[in-house]
Amino acid sequence: MNFEKLATFFAEGTLFNNLSKEELTQLAQIARERRFDRGQVIFYEGDLGGSLYIIVTGSVKIVIMADDGREHILGLLHQGDFFGEVSLIDGEPRSATAIALDNVSVVMISRDDFIRLLRENPEMSLKIMVTLCERLRKTDKHVESLAFLSAPGRVAQVLLNLAESHAPGQDKNITVSHKITRQEFASLAGTSRETLTRVLMDFQDDGLIKLEKNKIHIYDRLHLKEKVV
Ligand code: CMP
Repeated sequence: MNFEKLATFFAEGTLFNNLSKEELTQLAQIARERRFDRGQVIFYEGDLGGSLYIIVTGSVKIVIMADDGREHILGLLHQGDFFGEVSLIDGEPRSATAIALDNVSVVMISRDDFIRLLRENPEMSLKIMVTLCERLRKTDKHVESLAFLSAPGRVAQVLLNLAESHAPGQDKNITVSHKITRQEFASLAGTSRETLTRVLMDFQDDGLIKLEKNKIHIYDRLHLKEKVV
């Protein structure tokens, strides 16, 4: 992307749209673009944090891993989302691993530039705080669902979260296109792959969803919500 296109990308995203035209041009000049292939690790948990990443195209999963290689997905991020801010702000190592879910293109902003932007732009700092609060709320909800919901309830909750991120506010006939594997889906729901498959089949038999390759069709969000118990 040339500087102009990059400045437009920043202006249209939510994080930087309060910056002046001049600041956007400056930002486009200091940002670096990078591409990652599907499955490629962008950084590992424990690495030193060097840059903030903003997704231009593709999706990224944020995971924590057990010593035996099992992974737990903390979040799925898409075009316009940013990640890598935590270690830049607190100076600690990366709190999780970031992996490209498909071919991903990102722009990167170095720690020094990011911290300077935060100092100079209270609106931008506030947006970062709002995102951190959203993630904390999601994490609290996830802990709540692990502690109190049945396996079908957790699967229904993940489906509802996916529906909300694909079609905010829409109640009926939602099609979720995704690149996540059954194993990744099971990890999001805090259950095994076998249980996940059984629950999805039950939901399909009950007429709540229809499963297709890389797609899940949700007929009625409110009916699915009744399964969140
Ligand atoms: P950092 O700690 O630098 O590196 C890992 C990044 O993953 C972290 O910054 C956040 O940007 C992101 N991250 C951590 N936890 C979550 C979460 N629960 N949901 C989405 N993104 C997260």
